[in-house]
Amino acid sequence: MEQIIMYPGEVGKDAVDWKSTQGQHITAVQRNILVLGSGGREHALAWKLAQGEGAKVFIAPGNAGTAEVGVNVNIKVGDFEGIKKFCIDNEIGLVVVGPEQPLVDGIVDFFKGDAQLQKVRIVGPDQRGAQLEGSKAFAKVFMEKNGIPTARCLTVNQQTIEEGKTFLRSMKAPYVLKADGLAAGKGVLILDSLDEACQELSNMLDGKFGQASATVVIEEFLKGIECSVFVLTDGEHYLLLPEAKDYKRIGDGDKGLNTGGMGAVSPVPFCTNDFLQKVEDRIVKPTLNGLKSDGIDYKGFIFLGLMNVNGDPYVIEYNVRMGDPETEAVMTRIEGDFADMLYACAEGSLDKVHYAKSEKTAVTVMLVSGGYPEAYQKGKVMSGMDLLTDCVAFHAGTAFNAAGEVVTAGGRVIAVTAQGDSIEEARQKAYENVSKIKFEGENHRNDIGLDLLSLCGAE
Ligand code: AMP
Ligand code: GLY
Repeated sequence: MEQIIMYPGEVGKDAVDWKSTQGQHITAVQRNILVLGSGGREHALAWKLAQGEGAKVFIAPGNAGTAEVGVNVNIKVGDFEGIKKFCIDNEIGLVVVGPEQPLVDGIVDFFKGDAQLQKVRIVGPDQRGAQLEGSKAFAKVFMEKNGIPTARCLTVNQQTIEEGKTFLRSMKAPYVLKADGLAAGKGVLILDSLDEACQELSNMLDGKFGQASATVVIEEFLKGIECSVFVLTDGEHYLLLPEAKDYKRIGDGDKGLNTGGMGAVSPVPFCTNDFLQKVEDRIVKPTLNGLKSDGIDYKGFIFLGLMNVNGDPYVIEYNVRMGDPETEAVMTRIEGDFADMLYACAEGSLDKVHYAKSEKTAVTVMLVSGGYPEAYQKGKVMSGMDLLTDCVAFHAGTAFNAAGEVVTAGGRVIAVTAQGDSIEEARQKAYENVSKIKFEGENHRNDIGLDLLSLCGAE
């Protein structure tokens, strides 16, 4: 497994000799790109792709922000036939899949198996590869088989519930229970008491998360600090994209309910070269070798949810897509033509691209609807986006109303990303801009990146 050389970069420098397949720039038709999804992640992907030479970006279904960088197409991500027709009619050369569900549902297999779509390149794993995220039990077996560091675990179902309870009794609090299947990010419970853990195990196996929790992974609790490391692979070669830290809970100090993510910082001070080298040696290479030896042809993103336990990385979870809101920070640090890079990934020629990442720090703050992550209202008119300076605002849950105004349309509404030479500077710029965006019930965290300041010597 070969890593791509990185050229830590000056802006624009590497864009000059940015090449893809066998050194040829990709052709005009291949420059028609379709991004699937409608969140902040997809806006950030589309924003970055649209900066590529001659790129024409379509987003299905998109949001009010993606409409500024490309053309929104009213097709749902699960409508494979609709997507196929659009690709053929619009000579799409590259499809980039944002969320996990279409991957787990086999969109890559659908493309590869269809004679009319043979020329369309698609970034993402096939259905077997997507099991790394689609089934936590599969991911745990995969990690054990390939010697990848992860928490000790036992996988149980209704028939083996008593073994599960015995396993819980053998462990110390807190107790970690994970629904095997996709559960909209809600399928992990962390419980302080043994009684509660045994009760929740029964509830989960009885269908608390529907079919997703018919199988449950019981896991040892890992104490440490989390980070998200992103890998782009064509199955033979890989590169590490900028890493990020996500802020998962609704309240400052990481208090309150879990959310999809309230902010992000990239790079992460504790992800030193030494730590990232361990990630590559102990996790990335064995993962890619394991996929190969299972005969899985993986071309796409791998998102490693890691726990840094006293300087050693452990895998908390695999995702088969980019993270949200991490992408909103990460994309601002990638230099060069991202469309070329993704096309090369799908072609199997990632070794032919030069990749550079900015040494700036990016801080992303997510503005959410009042009440989120519980019930919240939609349709609130948004203002202030025209006042923003020196930042990018990536739309998540936004739409246009009948009057053409931008309104809220989801829990997570808009992600403001600013860059600086330090976390402090990027934070200050991001929050200055956050204060300009107004909508009824607006809420955000005020402490994104604060916990990292003490880890950055000079700051
Ligand atoms: P997941 O849906 O797998 O990302 O899990 C949600 C969150 O639960 C993670 O981001 C961690 O904060 C936490 N978590 C999951 N597994 C563990 C574990 N084994 N030890 C400690 N925390 C965990
Ligand atoms: N921010 C975490 C995720 O995308 O799953």
